[in-house]
Amino acid sequence: MKPLVFLSAALSLALALEYQLSPRPTLIPAPYNPRVPFPNPPRRSSSKVCVVNTYGDGITDDSPNILFAFHQCNDGGHVLFLRGVTYLVRTAIDLTFLRHVDIDIQGHIQFSNDTEYWQNNSFEFLFQNVTSFFKLGGEDVWIYGGGTLDGNGQVWYDEYARNIYTLRPVLVGIDGLRDSVLSDLRLRRSPQYYHFVANASNVVFNNIDIAGASVSQNMAKNTDGWDTYRSRDVTIMNSVINNSDDCVSFKPNSTNILVQSLFCNGSHGISVGSLGQYAGEFDIVESIMVSNISLHNGSDGARIKAWPNTPSALSPDLQGGGGSGRVRNITFEDMTVDNVDYAVQITQCYGQRNLTLCQQHPSRVTIENVFFRRFKGKTTEKYQPLIASLACSSAAGCHDIHVLEIDVVSPEGTRQAFCMNQAPRNLDLECTDHYKG
Ligand SMILES: *[C@@H]1O[C@H](CO)[C@@H](O)[C@H](O)[C@H]1NC(C)=O
Ligand SMILES: *[C@@H]1O[C@H](CO)[C@@H](O)[C@H](O)[C@H]1NC(C)=O
Ligand SMILES: *[C@@H]1O[C@H](CO)[C@@H](O)[C@H](O)[C@H]1NC(C)=O
Ligand SMILES: *[C@@H]1O[C@H](CO)[C@@H](O)[C@H](O)[C@H]1NC(C)=O
Ligand SMILES: *[C@@H]1O[C@H](CO)[C@@H](O)[C@H](O)[C@H]1NC(C)=O
Ligand SMILES: *[C@@H]1O[C@H](CO)[C@@H](O)[C@H](O)[C@H]1NC(C)=O
Ligand SMILES: *[C@@H]1O[C@H](CO)[C@@H](O)[C@H](O)[C@H]1NC(C)=O
Ligand SMILES: *[C@@H]1O[C@H](CO)[C@@H](O)[C@H](O)[C@H]1NC(C)=O
Ligand SMILES: *[C@@H]1O[C@H](CO)[C@@H](O)[C@H](O)[C@H]1NC(C)=O
Ligand SMILES: *[C@@H]1O[C@H](CO)[C@@H](O)[C@H](O)[C@H]1NC(C)=O
Ligand SMILES: *[C@@H]1O[C@H](CO)[C@@H](O)[C@H](O)[C@H]1NC(C)=O
Repeated sequence: MKPLVFLSAALSLALALEYQLSPRPTLIPAPYNPRVPFPNPPRRSSSKVCVVNTYGDGITDDSPNILFAFHQCNDGGHVLFLRGVTYLVRTAIDLTFLRHVDIDIQGHIQFSNDTEYWQNNSFEFLFQNVTSFFKLGGEDVWIYGGGTLDGNGQVWYDEYARNIYTLRPVLVGIDGLRDSVLSDLRLRRSPQYYHFVANASNVVFNNIDIAGASVSQNMAKNTDGWDTYRSRDVTIMNSVINNSDDCVSFKPNSTNILVQSLFCNGSHGISVGSLGQYAGEFDIVESIMVSNISLHNGSDGARIKAWPNTPSALSPDLQGGGGSGRVRNITFEDMTVDNVDYAVQITQCYGQRNLTLCQQHPSRVTIENVFFRRFKGKTTEKYQPLIASLACSSAAGCHDIHVLEIDVVSPEGTRQAFCMNQAPRNLDLECTDHYKG
């Protein structure tokens, strides 16, 4: 016999009375306040609660139940995923119609391991082949509750090792989300990035706990915490990220982004770019504040990456160069590095090992008014005696770079930096021209 698919409104209400709705999280921005005040909408109606039903058999798709609940309680209600329940998602869900809704995820949402289905059906973002399990958009959406989104990443890490062109979905795909909050969530085992945030404005990520590593010999690759794209006034704060690629990365047209009070373990640090990858495009990353971050066991602390004006390849599936753009008014401050290869890295020669060739074809992405200040900690031995690398492809296209109050040393106590096209008076480092990658 088939179980009941949809709960009636009356039954939903009865169940909701049995189960406690989570209180809305309190958002406390520190050390900085955002430029635009955080969303603060009135409470939703307490009589409009949709409990998401589940088959709970670990096989049957719960997507129709989820969509049903969202449609029923959109515009003023609560959608509740019950504590102790696992919901299985086997169908790509378009959630760009959401507005004025609180989504209380107390349970466990599991995305299926059907790599062939997802590669055929996940949502495309038309940037670096990004796709996602579901697409979140709309306005005034609050998602919280302490529950888990599980991307079932292991099958994808193993599949990617066999074929680097496997289209691995990102766990949380955002397109066109405004005045919204995601808080108190656990994200586990994303096949690729944990969040891709496109066309967003005034969106806050608070208290997000990210983790997932491969248990086979195949690495969990490209598991960035957040990538922002075509977005402004995004805040990412008070979160713990345990991954193996960028902790946060600012992709083209990210402006007024505040990133603060994060713990990043195993990551490639907080990165601007890469930019200038595609000829004919103009990429802007501007007015970014990154503050109070601790970075452990990773390759980088703070990074800015731009492609040169010549075709270059980092790997067969990551090629580019020739695009233009502008990186301006970026601050990285109060960053603690612990067992990280480079504390600070700037490159305008991304993907190009030949620095002579790179300087002959300097990047068309300009970098200016950048501050790295109050860094402390210790790097790894990897680039010793260097602790930083500042490789601009031309002096004109890269200026007003300040690296100040840097209390970082290598394991042997040195604090050298590779410098190319830098003004040494702005640098609290010992420049050398010995390049190490
Ligand atoms: C995928 O999930 C199903 C159902 O949980 C399970 O039976 C199957 O073994 C999984 N396949 C892989 C490759 O993990
Ligand atoms: C995926 O698409 C391919 C090519 O269109 C098709 O042969 C295959 O049956 C599809 N698989 C699934 C699971 O949708
Ligand atoms: C973002 O918005 C633009 C303009 O409306 C649209 O063309 C694009 O498809 C949206 N999504 C992404 C990922 O850029
Ligand atoms: C996107 O996918 C296409 C086709 O598989 C591939 O040729 C290209 O290199 C991929 N691009 C990226 C950035 O991965
Ligand atoms: C981070 O990943 C490592 C390796 O899998 C694991 O040992 C550790 O428990 C993880 N940390 C968290 C907070 O999940
Ligand atoms: C970024 O903004 C610039 C300037 O408005 C525009 O020319 C460019 O097309 C935008 N790029 C993307 C990817 O939206
Ligand atoms: C810095 O971040 C840590 C968490 O990583 C937090 O405990 C601390 O309060 C933050 N400091 C400030 C000044 O906000
Ligand atoms: C950091 O990552 C390392 C290596 O994966 C792991 O052993 C360690 O448990 C992680 N630490 C935390 C606090 O998650
Ligand atoms: C520079 O960026 C900061 C955010 O870090 C912002 O408050 C400030 O207004 C920006 N300045 C200019 C001139 O855009
Ligand atoms: C860094 O990784 C080592 C294991 O490689 C682990 O012992 C240590 O706890 C990690 N540091 C943090 C802060 O997680
Ligand atoms: C680097 O580029 C320069 C200039 O084009 C060229 O003369 C040189 O041979 C290249 N070096 C290598 C190692 O390819």
